[in-house]
Amino acid sequence: MSIRGKDVFSGITLLLFGFLACFTSSEAAIKKYQFDIQVKNVSRLCHAKPIVTVNGMYPGPTVYVREGDSVLVNVTNHAQYNMSIHWHGLKQYRNGWADGPAYITQCPIQTGNSYTYNFNVTGQRGTLWWHAHILWLRATVYGAIVIMPKQGTPFPFPQPYREQTILLGEWWNSDVEAVEKQGNQLGLPPNMSDAHTINGKPGPLFPCSEKHTFVMEVELGKTYLLRIINAALNDELFLAIAGHSMTVVEVDAVYTKPFTTESILIAPGQTTNVLVQANRVPGRYFMATRTFIDAPIPVDNKTATAILQYKGIPNTVMPALPQLPAPNDSVFALSYNQKLRSLNSLQFPANVPLKVDRNLFYTIGLGMNSCPTCVNGTRLLASLNNISFVMPQVGLLQAHYFDMKGVFTTDFPDQPPSPFNYTGAPLTANLRTSASRGTRVSKIAFNSTVELVLQDTNLLTVESHPFHLHGYNFFVVGTGIGNFDPAKDRIKYNLVDPMERNTVGVPTGGWTTIRFRADNPGVWFMHCHLELHTGWGLKTAFVVEDGPGSDQTVLPPPSDLPPC
Ligand SMILES: *[C@@H]1O[C@H](CO)[C@@H](O)[C@H](O)[C@H]1NC(C)=O
Ligand SMILES: *[C@@H]1O[C@H](CO)[C@@H](O)[C@H](O)[C@H]1NC(C)=O
Ligand SMILES: *[C@@H]1O[C@H](CO)[C@@H](O)[C@H](O)[C@H]1NC(C)=O
Ligand SMILES: *[C@@H]1O[C@H](CO)[C@@H](O)[C@H](O)[C@H]1NC(C)=O
Ligand SMILES: *[C@@H]1O[C@H](CO)[C@@H](O)[C@H](O)[C@H]1NC(C)=O
Ligand SMILES: *[C@@H]1O[C@H](CO)[C@@H](O)[C@H](O)[C@H]1NC(C)=O
Ligand SMILES: *[C@@H]1O[C@H](CO)[C@@H](O)[C@H](O)[C@H]1NC(C)=O
Ligand SMILES: *[C@@H]1O[C@H](CO)[C@@H](O)[C@H](O)[C@H]1NC(C)=O
Ligand SMILES: *[C@@H]1O[C@H](CO)[C@@H](O)[C@H](O)[C@H]1NC(C)=O
Ligand SMILES: *[C@@H]1O[C@H](CO)[C@@H](O)[C@H](O)[C@H]1NC(C)=O
Ligand SMILES: *[C@@H]1O[C@H](CO)[C@@H](O)[C@H](O)[C@H]1NC(C)=O
Repeated sequence: MSIRGKDVFSGITLLLFGFLACFTSSEAAIKKYQFDIQVKNVSRLCHAKPIVTVNGMYPGPTVYVREGDSVLVNVTNHAQYNMSIHWHGLKQYRNGWADGPAYITQCPIQTGNSYTYNFNVTGQRGTLWWHAHILWLRATVYGAIVIMPKQGTPFPFPQPYREQTILLGEWWNSDVEAVEKQGNQLGLPPNMSDAHTINGKPGPLFPCSEKHTFVMEVELGKTYLLRIINAALNDELFLAIAGHSMTVVEVDAVYTKPFTTESILIAPGQTTNVLVQANRVPGRYFMATRTFIDAPIPVDNKTATAILQYKGIPNTVMPALPQLPAPNDSVFALSYNQKLRSLNSLQFPANVPLKVDRNLFYTIGLGMNSCPTCVNGTRLLASLNNISFVMPQVGLLQAHYFDMKGVFTTDFPDQPPSPFNYTGAPLTANLRTSASRGTRVSKIAFNSTVELVLQDTNLLTVESHPFHLHGYNFFVVGTGIGNFDPAKDRIKYNLVDPMERNTVGVPTGGWTTIRFRADNPGVWFMHCHLELHTGWGLKTAFVVEDGPGSDQTVLPPPSDLPPC
């Protein structure tokens, strides 16, 4: 558990951290980081190519803080692309200015410019992550956020001996922006990735990858905390470790009721903390990750590996592969997600909204719009309630705060335009024609309680969609396969200990219900965390109004907020 000096631009921070560690002070600290956005040549799978990085690191530096700390990250853009950074899962109370999605809460940081993200880490502890929130740049611009509990507050599970961040990603041999651009021009899905990675490394099952293999050394008899993050753009992933089971203790920086499993399932945007005991015959064991896909869609299905290596065991020992669930194992996926329950203890209660002020029902659809210059004369797109979201030219939060007209409308419908058999026989996009396009959002009253049912549809095809809401955690009160039936399904909700999180998978051909209390004023993005679908318009935002109190309003924007 060390903080790397080069991640920090002020030696004072390092000293402060050391001081805190030594004297167990409960004082909150100010943690400062310098993020230089730089292009660096990186070689994987026998190909070298320039990638966009933070401080030349791939994956980027870990932001290591303690609950209650204030964080200042000066992001300076030396790359040729516009940049913005999202602190995925941090609630940013009243402080959307530091949330990061480009054109939603800020204009991008342009080449040669800087912006300091200034935020407090309040009421949260666990594993989160940060990533670029513009174009497809998060393919290489991402890293972990580790929030330690306040001094003197132990984990609600056995104290691990050591801990390790495990970042799962995707690697393209080509320039990822060229890949994205080509897909957009053709109106087709961009080329899939060439490899998955674990801590930036694909592992020895790929060519030229012996030296690009992540190795975690363990000591016999010790317990380790793995902080696992799915930073992949488009793939839900299984992960398992040969010979070792895992005990899930936290997801999305919320403690769970612990349960033991041979494999975990983790969607893009999600984090999962597991305890692993090094209690097997000392040796080398593969940790492996591969895509979960239960829809007829081509995906990168290649297996990335890392090695769990017991101390003193030579590198010549060949590790065995773990048994991962089959790539299309929906039964495992549903049962795994059912096991996720909030700890719901006195100290960490699950404050599930029991009364709902606002009921929302959003259908998720794929479709095709006419595009004369595209391969088939059509362009694939995606929509919520038949609306494919159009990115504005200025940040929505600025438009809201300064009451600028003509940037967005607040008429996003609470229901789809007309009900249909959502998950029945496949519907071609032509049958339903193309979705309408617009920068349409929903206005939510301050501190009201919201129930949102996300319903997958068979428009073109069913598929699973991990949805991420900015600015909030929500409770996953129900999920099922087929069409949501209010009469039958609402009575089956779990309102006692549902999982609280920030990103949830809507199952293939099914639905998921979330509930949250809208007590964080601002403009909060909600989108599918498959970058492919975000780009196609599978997104919208909530404008949560200010409350009556002076401490219930959006904070004034920082003076260095980037202009458009
Ligand atoms: C980066 O790698 C490419 C491909 O190998 C090479 O052509 C280029 O010269 C390298 N650039 C730098 C700055 O090393
Ligand atoms: C951010 O970093 C840049 C580049 O090092 C520097 O010029 C700028 O002054 C820094 N901004 C702040 C607020 O420290
Ligand atoms: C962070 O907390 C400090 C101390 O309570 C407060 O003064 C400051 O305004 C907060 N900053 C943000 C961005 O919320
Ligand atoms: C995408 O894949 C096709 C087929 O393999 C290839 O011809 C093309 O160059 C790739 N595009 C990019 C941007 O790498
Ligand atoms: C992986 O995907 C490729 C291309 O989509 C397909 O040909 C192959 O059968 C798949 N392999 C497995 C094990 O699913
Ligand atoms: C999963 O894939 C296997 C192998 O491709 C296939 O035989 C099986 O029918 C599939 N299962 C489901 C539930 O689709
Ligand atoms: C073009 O459209 C046809 C008919 O919808 C479809 O079968 C085909 O796969 C499409 N081609 C591409 C490249 O998407
Ligand atoms: C919806 O479609 C499915 C599959 O085609 C069918 O089994 C079901 O009866 C349909 N439901 C309704 C209400 O029409
Ligand atoms: C979706 O919107 C388009 C454009 O407004 C319209 O033509 C189409 O009928 C709508 N589809 C549905 C299912 O409401
Ligand atoms: C929001 O409403 C709840 C329930 O009425 C209340 O307990 C809470 O104090 C309110 N919060 C704020 C910030 O107004
Ligand atoms: C960067 O962002 C600015 C402000 O929105 C925009 O005017 C400019 O076109 C963008 N540059 C690129 C290369 O996309």
